[in-house]
Order: sequence, then C-alpha cells, then structure tokens
Amino acid sequence: MKGIEDLRKIAVLGAGTMGHGIAQVLVQAGFEVVLYDLEERLCEEGKRRIEVMLEKGKTLGKVSEEDMRSALSRISTTASLDEACLGAGAVIEAAPERMEIKKEIFGRVEELVDRDCLLATNTSSLSVSEIAKDLVAPERFVGLHYFNPPPLMKLLEIVRGERSSPRILDLAREFALRQGKEPILVRDSPGFASSRLGLALGLEAVRMVEEGVASPSDIDKAMKLGYRHPMGPLELTDLVGLDVRLSIARYLSAELDEARFAPPRLLEDLVAKGRLGRKVGRGFYEWKDGRPVEGSGGLP
Ligand SMILES: NC(=O)c1ccc[n+]([C@@H]2O[C@H](COP(=O)([O-])OP(=O)(O)OC[C@H]3O[C@@H](n4cnc5c(N)ncnc54)[C@H](O)[C@@H]3O)[C@@H](O)[C@H]2O)c1
Repeated sequence: MKGIEDLRKIAVLGAGTMGHGIAQVLVQAGFEVVLYDLEERLCEEGKRRIEVMLEKGKTLGKVSEEDMRSALSRISTTASLDEACLGAGAVIEAAPERMEIKKEIFGRVEELVDRDCLLATNTSSLSVSEIAKDLVAPERFVGLHYFNPPPLMKLLEIVRGERSSPRILDLAREFALRQGKEPILVRDSPGFASSRLGLALGLEAVRMVEEGVASPSDIDKAMKLGYRHPMGPLELTDLVGLDVRLSIARYLSAELDEARFAPPRLLEDLVAKGRLGRKVGRGFYEWKDGRPVEGSGGLP
C-alpha cells in the first residue's frame, strides 16, 4: 500500500467544473497532475480555466508570480487514459454523474494503474460501493467529494465504501490534509452528510414559501441573522440550481425517505417554468452580475 510520499503524480479524470478545480487544488499543494478528458480541446480548456483563476489570485495578491508559475509547471494534459494513469499514485474521477460512465472508467483504470494506486470518485450522490462493486481491488476505492469551487471550499467529504480499507481511509485523510482541506469521514449513504442535511433545510424553506409563512428573502434573513448562516437556504438553492436540487430531492426521496425528501410542488413548478436560479437570472431571486438583485426575493 502506498504512503502519502508515494502520491506524487495524480491523474484527474474529467476537466470540467470540478475536475479543473480539483487539479488546481492539487498543483497548488505541490502535486504533479495529469488532467484527462475525452478530447485534448477539453483538457486545454480546463487548463486555461486554471490559468485564469491563478491570474486572478495574483491580481488580488493571493498568489505570487512564482507560485503561479510553479503550480502551472506541474500540470499536464492528455486525452489518453493510458498516459494519464501511467505511474499515477492516485486517480480522482470527476466525470459526469452517471453510474455507467463511472463504472466503465474505473474498469479501464484498474487495468492501467499499479495495484496500490488510490482510486477516488468525486460523485456527489451516487453510491461509492456500487461504483466499486466490480473492481478487482475495491479496498483501495473511496469517495472524495470536493465542493464547488474546489480551490475555495475547505470541506472534503471522504466517503467510506462498504469495502474501503482502513488504510486507504487513513491515506485519503492525509491526502486531504496535504491539500489544505478539512476532511470529514462519512459512510456511503445517499446524500452523504452535506447534501442530505443541506437539502433537508432547503426543501423545508421551499415548503415555507409555499405555505406563505414568509418571503424567500425573509426566510433567508432568519437563517443568516438568527443562525449565522453565510447564505440563506433559498439563495443557496438559486445558486446550486433549482433543477439540480429537484433531482437530488427525487433521488433521496427514492433512496432514503419518500415523505421527508418529497420535492415540494413549488419547486417542481418553478423548474417547469425555467426559473432555475442564478444560471438563468431568475429563481427565488432575480440575479444580476452573479448576485441577487436588491429588493427581489418576494413571494413568488
Ligand atoms: N458541479 C458541482 O457543483 C459538483 C460538486 C461536487 C461534485 N460534483 C460531481 O463531480 C462530477 C463532475 O461534475 P462537473 O460538474 O465537473 O461536470 P462537468 O460536466 O462540468 O464535467 C465533466 C467532464 O467529464 C468529461 N467526461 C465525459 N465522459 C468522460 C469519461 N468517460 N472520462 C473522463 N471524462 C469524461 C466531460 O467531457 C466533462 O469535461 C460529477 O460526479 C458531479 O456529481 C459536482
């Protein structure tokens, strides 16, 4: 089994929203990263997004010129899975949230890496045990659930699959700490810790709007000022996307508790009307320049 010192080269599979962010975290923490996607164009786009983020950090005085250059020197890209996996100490998958895609990826990866390579998925909802089910060595498989955007979010949920070994969990924890993250350990269970709890609060807030208990902005204010939440549950729902929250609600309702996570009618209606939140400029709030418009957030 590898120790943390053996985790020098990390393969990140998928260069989209999460993959490029995870790659940035890793290179800034001193790891060598190979960023893989289906086409070189997608890999390059991921790398370009990292450059933009680091440039921004430099402008804000948060990243020095030297750190930026050294971080960028540690990242390479490839559209060849063989090349990405060659000699990797760990593989982190950030491909689309579909079970068959993840299973197919790890089936191929297992043939390309050493037996003691750490294998991790960044799934936000799928069963980690199920993804690892057909692997030859499922004991080295864990969930590493990063939050968006990975360079800014401290939390890292380490998800323990049914067959993840204690040693791989220790290694994953050390790996997380080396990335400057705050790891928590969660058993493989639908919604893990973060999505399950976050959604419970979000759905209750939507039901309160539905019942006319208070306006979205007043419910959010209650949680911000009364409970010191940095953002209210409805603003957060807008930020995540109402459609995304709806699909997680359906999933948890089917997998965990039908009544508790049943999607409120209002959420279904707003999604049907295309009010998906920040990404379309309208959800519970009106959005402009990435922020809720002052005075919006009344009863829908
Ligand atoms: N977006 C979020 O806020 C968030 C947060 C936490 C976790 N996640 C999870 O991270 C994973 C990726 O999500 P995302 O938002 O980055 O998606 P995304 O669509 O932005 O990126 C996915 C990337 O994977 C690539 N891809 C497709 N098939 C592939 C394959 N077979 N092998 C490798 N790459 C492939 C796509 O070309 C794309 O670039 C999902 O499992 C998602 O649930 C997302």
